[in-house]
Amino acid sequence: MSATTEFEAALARSAEAVEDCLAGLLPDGDGHEERVMEAMRYSSLGGGKRIRPFLVMAGADMFNVSRERSERVGAAIEMVHTYSLIHDDLPAMDDDGLRRGQPTCHVKFDEATAILAGDALLTLAFEVVAGPDTHPNPDVRCDLALEMAKAAGAQGMVGGQMIDLVAEDHDFDVAEITRLQRMKTGALINFSCIAGGILGRATDHQMHILSAYAHDLGLAFQIVDDLLDVEGDTAVLGKTAGKDEAAGKATFVSLLGIERAREQARMLAGQAAAHLGPFDDKAANLCQLAEFVVNRRN
Ligand code: IPE
Ligand code: IPE
Ligand code: MG
Ligand code: MG
Ligand code: MG
Repeated sequence: MSATTEFEAALARSAEAVEDCLAGLLPDGDGHEERVMEAMRYSSLGGGKRIRPFLVMAGADMFNVSRERSERVGAAIEMVHTYSLIHDDLPAMDDDGLRRGQPTCHVKFDEATAILAGDALLTLAFEVVAGPDTHPNPDVRCDLALEMAKAAGAQGMVGGQMIDLVAEDHDFDVAEITRLQRMKTGALINFSCIAGGILGRATDHQMHILSAYAHDLGLAFQIVDDLLDVEGDTAVLGKTAGKDEAAGKATFVSLLGIERAREQARMLAGQAAAHLGPFDDKAANLCQLAEFVVNRRN
C-alpha cells in the first residue's frame, strides 16, 4: 500500500471508531424531549471528515494512550465542532441549507430545535470529558475540560465567530483575518492537537511541539476552507459553495488571491509537519494529515 492509501485507510478507521463511540454516547430517548436527541444524532452521525478526532487519537497514540480513552475525547471535540456547525448554519448566522451533503439541522427540524441540539452537544462534550472513563486521574480530566472550554469560548471559537460576523461590514487586513481564523477554526484544532498530550502526560517541551503544529495546521485548514468555498463544487463539498463572496466576507482568498492563498496553505502545512521532527516516525500520521488538509476536496 502506498503511504497515501495507508493514511486514508487510517483516517477512515478512526472515523468509524469515533462514530461508534458517538453513537454510544449520544442520548436516544423517548418522551417529549425525543426531538432534540434526534437532531443531535442527525447532525453528529451524518458524515464529516472527523479530522479533529483523528488529531486527538493520532496525538494520543504517540504517548501510548489507550484508544478507549482517546476515542472519548475525540468524540467530545467532534460534538463541540458539530454544535459549532449547527449554529454556524442558522439563518441568523450563515443561513445555510446544506451540511455534510444533507439538509442542515434547522432545515430538517426547526430553528429552536437546532439551537437546543447545539446547546446539548456542547454540554454533553464536557460531561464526556469529565467522566471517569476518560482518564482515572481527575487532574487530567480537569485539564482537558479547562482547555476545551478555553478553545470553545469567547477567546476561542465563539470569539472568532463573532469577529467573522463583524468582518462582513469591515475592511479587514491580513493580520485581522489571521487572528479571526486562528480563533474561529484554530482554537478547536489546537485543542484536538494537544489533547493527546494531556491524556499521555506529555512534557512541556512535547506540548510546545504539539501547539506549534496546531498553530500552523489550523491556519492552513481554514485557508483551504476559504479556497474550497471559491473553487469547490457544492456536490463534492457537501455544503453550498460561493457563500463567502456572496456574503461579502473578507477571507485569505479575497485578500491574497487564489494562488498566494494556496501557496500560503502549502507552506503552513509543511511548517506544521516540520515541527514534529523530534517525534520522528511516531508522528507519521500527523505529518500526513497536514498534507491531506491542503489537498482535500471537501
Ligand atoms: C468545516 O469544518 C468548518 C470549519 C471549521 C471551517 P470541517 O471541514 O472539518 O467539516 P466536517 O466536519 O468535515 O464536515
Ligand atoms: C465556520 O466557518 C467555523 C465554525 C463553525 C466555527 P465557516 O462558516 O467558514 O464554515 P463553513 O464553510 O460553513 O463550513
Ligand atoms: Mg461561518
Ligand atoms: Mg458557514
Ligand atoms: Mg467556510
